[in-house]
Amino acid sequence: MKPTASKMVAVAAVMALGAMFMSSVSSEAAEKQGVVKSAFGKTTDGAAVDLYTLTNKSGIVAKITSYGAILTEVHTPDRTGKKGNIVFGFDNIEGYLKGHPYFGATVGRVANRIAKGKFTLEGKEYSLAVNNGPNSLHGGIKGFDKAVWKASVVKSGDGPSVKFTHHSPDGDEGYPGAVDVTVVYTLTNKNSVRIEYTATSTKATPINLTNHTYFNLRGEGDVLGYEMLINADNYTPVDDTLIPTGSISAVKGTPLDFTYPHAIGEHIKELPGDPNGYDHNYVINGGGKGLTLTARCYDPQSGRVVEMQTTEPGVQFYTGNFLDGTLTGVGGFNYQIHDAFCLEAQHYPDSINHPNFPSCVLRPGQKYHQVTEYTFSTK
Ligand code: GLA
Repeated sequence: MKPTASKMVAVAAVMALGAMFMSSVSSEAAEKQGVVKSAFGKTTDGAAVDLYTLTNKSGIVAKITSYGAILTEVHTPDRTGKKGNIVFGFDNIEGYLKGHPYFGATVGRVANRIAKGKFTLEGKEYSLAVNNGPNSLHGGIKGFDKAVWKASVVKSGDGPSVKFTHHSPDGDEGYPGAVDVTVVYTLTNKNSVRIEYTATSTKATPINLTNHTYFNLRGEGDVLGYEMLINADNYTPVDDTLIPTGSISAVKGTPLDFTYPHAIGEHIKELPGDPNGYDHNYVINGGGKGLTLTARCYDPQSGRVVEMQTTEPGVQFYTGNFLDGTLTGVGGFNYQIHDAFCLEAQHYPDSINHPNFPSCVLRPGQKYHQVTEYTFSTK
């Protein structure tokens, strides 16, 4: 039997409706789970920058931009289930271009300080830009945090995932060797942001990559009442320019002891020589061998907990001591001193000048590998 014209129109209409329904379902599903790429603006050189929005099975959202491979936002539920952003950053590229203290950034080639910006490797002395008092900090003037990274969505059984790659040429910021670096962010279905770094170099070079996320677990106010635990019996004491003296000292009996959970602000005023707050490298107990519990922080008000694990031997605990209210970020939050804490996985500061510290030298033929996970929950 031949279909009549009216029947054919009806079938076509049903098919069209079906297609519309399917596409609305799939775009909803994409918003619910997976990765959505959107434009984030342009750098001053005119390079286009993208934002990747990752959503996992339970609806946690993490946003990462290809500018600096920066983690810009993380939305997690509080104990009542209400979602909110718990990291510092901006919702447009201009905020980052104006200058900021490494909010959420991928920091390299060498995170933290190198004394006087100088080191000797294989008999050759290298001089880096001095950008922090007398020292070099966080990779120099144009570190990895200011590079436009190449990005691609990758398949991972663990949750939505995006890979960022960057080529740092020989001599970049004064460092030897051309370095190829990859950072893979995965928002796992176990509610972690997992950051996996790999790198290779054509010459021996120091390398110490980290992520510099500033956490505020309630989206406003200071963090002094949060309960912090740091799995470290020892730390690396520093001089007054924050360069390690070379010794490794016990935290016991000092305001640096977070081996038992207590409020960040409880002993902050007792810190010797640095009344501004914590900015110290802790030697993680059993650290540097595999993924190890590093720290756990709980905000009694929102109920949010973030737990950190890393493969690195150290962690810089920093309490936003240099925030001064001049920056306002996502949600109109004006960032004041002590409004955030950072837990930066790392080799110890100035390792390249301290042969007794775990080595941060990457040689040709070797592969640098680092994994850090921040896991979110409530109690
Ligand atoms: C690290 C350093 C701090 C500070 C911040 C960025 O945490 O240790 O001293 O430089 O980065 O402002």
